[in-house]
Amino acid sequence: MSKYITTPIYYVNGEAHIGHAYTTFIADSMARYEKLKGEDTYFLTGTDEHGQKIEESAQKNNKPTQQFADEISATFKNLWDEFEICYDKFIRTTDEEHKRGVQKAFEVMMAKGDIYKDFYEGHYCVSCETFFPETQLIDGAFCPDCGRSTNVVKEESYFFRLSKYQDALLKHYAENPDFILPRSRANEVINFVKGGLRDLSVTRTSFTWGVKLPESMHDDKHVMYVWLDALMNYVTALGYGQEGEKMSYWPASVQFVGKDILRFHAIYWPAFLMSLDLPLPKTIGAHGWWTRDGEKMSKSKGNVISPKEVSDAYGVENLRYFMLREVPFGQDGDFSQRAFIDRINSELSNDLGNLLNRIIGMSGKYSDFLIDSKDVERYHAKELAAMAGVLASLDEYMETLQTHRYLEELWKLFSIGNKAIEEYAPWVKMKENKADEALATVALVANILAKAALMLSPIMPKTTAVIADTLGFAIDNANYRALVREGKLLAPFTIKKTPPLFPRIEEPLMAEAPAAKPNEKEIEVKKEKPKAQEKKEETTGLIEIGQFFETSLKVGTILEAEAVEKSAKLLRLQVDLGEAKPRQIVAGIKEFYTPESLVGTQACVVANLKPAKLMGMLSEGMLLAAKDEDGLCLVRPEKPKKAGTPIG
Ligand code: ME8
Ligand code: MG
Repeated sequence: MSKYITTPIYYVNGEAHIGHAYTTFIADSMARYEKLKGEDTYFLTGTDEHGQKIEESAQKNNKPTQQFADEISATFKNLWDEFEICYDKFIRTTDEEHKRGVQKAFEVMMAKGDIYKDFYEGHYCVSCETFFPETQLIDGAFCPDCGRSTNVVKEESYFFRLSKYQDALLKHYAENPDFILPRSRANEVINFVKGGLRDLSVTRTSFTWGVKLPESMHDDKHVMYVWLDALMNYVTALGYGQEGEKMSYWPASVQFVGKDILRFHAIYWPAFLMSLDLPLPKTIGAHGWWTRDGEKMSKSKGNVISPKEVSDAYGVENLRYFMLREVPFGQDGDFSQRAFIDRINSELSNDLGNLLNRIIGMSGKYSDFLIDSKDVERYHAKELAAMAGVLASLDEYMETLQTHRYLEELWKLFSIGNKAIEEYAPWVKMKENKADEALATVALVANILAKAALMLSPIMPKTTAVIADTLGFAIDNANYRALVREGKLLAPFTIKKTPPLFPRIEEPLMAEAPAAKPNEKEIEVKKEKPKAQEKKEETTGLIEIGQFFETSLKVGTILEAEAVEKSAKLLRLQVDLGEAKPRQIVAGIKEFYTPESLVGTQACVVANLKPAKLMGMLSEGMLLAAKDEDGLCLVRPEKPKKAGTPIG
């Protein structure tokens, strides 16, 4: 069976940061792993170039939209090329073939009766960018997630019958426990679907930068909703909707995404595929976020770390190793140079690098660099058995995307090697005239390094190629089969004198990146869209300073936080505002913060709001937050302040 591995296609509204690099590194490692195993593998990445967000970014940069998209798309492609990402295709949603494929899909869905034209009418919460049915509103008017008031919006739109697929989706999740990995993420998807799926608006009339409807529709008022367009890339890349399509790689084996876009990939995408009568991907792998100071790193927050800067300082392979080793797949991780340097020094330099140096040194002294495995089985059956056990355990970790466990387990091989050297002390054996035994230990370690290098090669392809060259073999499927699967040992070879692969690092090699600086967009907590606001200001929209001070804003310290069970979005907080007792505040931030990450932190609180009830719980205040396409963040004092300190 062939393997098909994908990354999300990244928006061209800004250059890549290490969050994007992470997804790409994992997918690249997985593709290399499958190729090493001899699987026929296809690896896709690319850029997502339509939609209002891109149109607006281009305008801000005073560039024609296509030119802007071309330029940013090229920065992604160039970066991946520089990092030697082994993609088989780099797709752009502005490619003609892609657009035709999306139109074709629209026609197929239409013919199936899954698309109909209607009016989009609903209560829209601008803050949450979400529609809610009347029945879910609090007191008939307020957003069930954040408590803000909602607006009624009406717009012509084509709809996809998502609701029709609700039961089929639930059945699929139940029957395919590996459809969403890690499994711990599946529940949030299942609960969302169980909560009831509403048909999805799949066209827009409010902007033009998108794929046009198929000509057969004779309707040029609408363009496709960017997510329908974007998700289709995974099959248009294989030729869906084109003459002589070669969809033989479909369905995908793993589609990697960040948890921010899991819902799109685990609900909309499979429903679209069902509508197109295409099989569903085997696994959607949703990883966590790289954060800075506990907040998601994102283009619009301006708190990003450049992958190029890190790789220039530390080397791209070290970065790949660090990112895949540091964070359990699915969880968030904080990028710290200290943690990075510690792993380079202890794991790469000490455990792996020194082991290689030691056998180069010993074989030079004892056998003129010649290494022969002939006596390894005789003297080291115990170590060989331990090694085989480790090697046999690895595949499962990789196939279930647990890269950190994979690497942790793999590192046991180096312990076996290092322990063998201590235990058998070849230098003592040489003095005792037991050269056979001494050389067997050196050869054992050479074999350990060779097998480990093969298994590490998907993550560190160039470094392990050097190790293999040092040990007189090559990283390829034939050697994988012989040395890893069949447990064979290296043929006699002369080891090369290779300089140390991982020089120790004493001091951070990069200046500390500046602290996250919220940009204007982020601290905007206005409820109207900026355009509407501008109009107001021209006339009577301005307020007096006194009106502003009618709002009492205070610094609050979050003492307790817990998830509200039946709500996907609400957290219940106890917040100290310097008053006799803490206030209870119910906030719609569950998707963006874990309760634990909030306890002890501070936020800006609107302290004189009329208490409101959210899902039956009293909420005595509101946290200021800013939200854009990349998520939500709380507005916080730059430095800790006493609870209750007024803001203004
Ligand atoms: O969502 N930590 O594109 P996008 C880890 N075009 N990964 C991160 C990250 C972070 N801080 N920030 C971004 C889109 N990512 C759509 C996708 S797919 C049909 C359309 C990674 O440019 C992660 O993989 O916002 C996340 O899902 C993706 O970049 C979002 O990239
Ligand atoms: Mg994003």
